[in-house]
Amino acid sequence: MNNKALQGQTLLLLGASGGIGSALAKKVTAQGAELIIAGRNLRSLQQLAIQLPTKTQCIEADLSEQSGRELLMLALPNQIDGVIFAAGTNDFTLFEQQDPRSIRQLFEVNTLLPMLLTRDLLTRLKAKARLIYVGSTLGAIGYPGYAAYGATKAALKHFVQALRREMADSCLQFCYIAPRSTQTSMNSQAAQELNRVLGSKTDQPDWVAAQILQQLMAKRMHDQNLGMPERLFVRLNAWFPKILDLALHKQLSVIKQYLRRTPAEPHSGVPNSSEHPAITPKPNTHTPNIQTPNTQTANAMASTSLEAITINALGVKGVCK
Ligand SMILES: NC(=O)c1ccc[n+]([C@@H]2O[C@H](COP(=O)([O-])OP(=O)(O)OC[C@H]3O[C@@H](n4cnc5c(N)ncnc54)[C@H](OP(=O)(O)O)[C@@H]3O)[C@@H](O)[C@H]2O)c1
Repeated sequence: MNNKALQGQTLLLLGASGGIGSALAKKVTAQGAELIIAGRNLRSLQQLAIQLPTKTQCIEADLSEQSGRELLMLALPNQIDGVIFAAGTNDFTLFEQQDPRSIRQLFEVNTLLPMLLTRDLLTRLKAKARLIYVGSTLGAIGYPGYAAYGATKAALKHFVQALRREMADSCLQFCYIAPRSTQTSMNSQAAQELNRVLGSKTDQPDWVAAQILQQLMAKRMHDQNLGMPERLFVRLNAWFPKILDLALHKQLSVIKQYLRRTPAEPHSGVPNSSEHPAITPKPNTHTPNIQTPNTQTANAMASTSLEAITINALGVKGVCK
């Protein structure tokens, strides 16, 4: 009897060994889907696979490399029902100190990997296949310390939107989901401390995975920014970026303290597994706000209206024109 929502489907899940990916692997297989999972560490993929209730194929491949993507394509069946792009990397650092190789690597993994693989996979997708791309709130809101990471996610978001429109005459569905800060190993100790100092909200990977599963099972998928008030901040930033410029300026000295604490890896060529900040409201309010550790400033910003935030933000002193 076929009583599970994803029974009979074969899905390709990238980033399955990660915090969000492994939580998602458990959820989609509980719904009956069979998985193909790929990553650079076969052992961690196999450790996950033995916990899953359905057939899972593990492929060891560095997907930022052309050779790795070719290996994956060779191992894939002719027709798959969907792809979830949840692989990613991060590098929380001052841009002036960022290793150029780290910038390249961020684009390789977060942007080029999903773009190039999507192109290769188009001929392997069933007519009604679904493609889900995991982005980030930071793809919509530029945040200090994440100039390169945010740019990779902004590019990904744009790619998904354009491709969806280009392929609107097909039955394929495309969706970009942007989590806020999530409790995975992508976030270092320093990032977690910064979140604590800023009183920022973070999500559990299991909750993020549940939102992705919901999209996968919905009749029509749609792009989604996860978490309030981040969803509101994304709109605020699109309409009134100056407000966020000024509000983030108030937080800058604190953020920089944590940026400077991040141990530099100048010659590794591989980005640090690193921080993902949360942009949060005042505790116990739903006020769209960018929090500050300074109590006085925080109180000044604890208003419940958009106009008051605007006034607060515009009231900041010492902003370079
Ligand atoms: N954690 C957050 O705060 C947060 C917030 C918003 C968005 N996101 C996004 O959510 C997605 C998942 O993040 P996460 O927190 O689950 O990260 P994570 O725990 O660090 O996992 C990252 C995953 O990406 C895979 N990966 C990285 N480079 C790869 C490569 N070259 N080839 C193949 N696989 C590669 C890793 O596999 P191997 O290392 O085994 O290869 C791992 O499975 C990412 O796109 C991230 O940007 C995360």
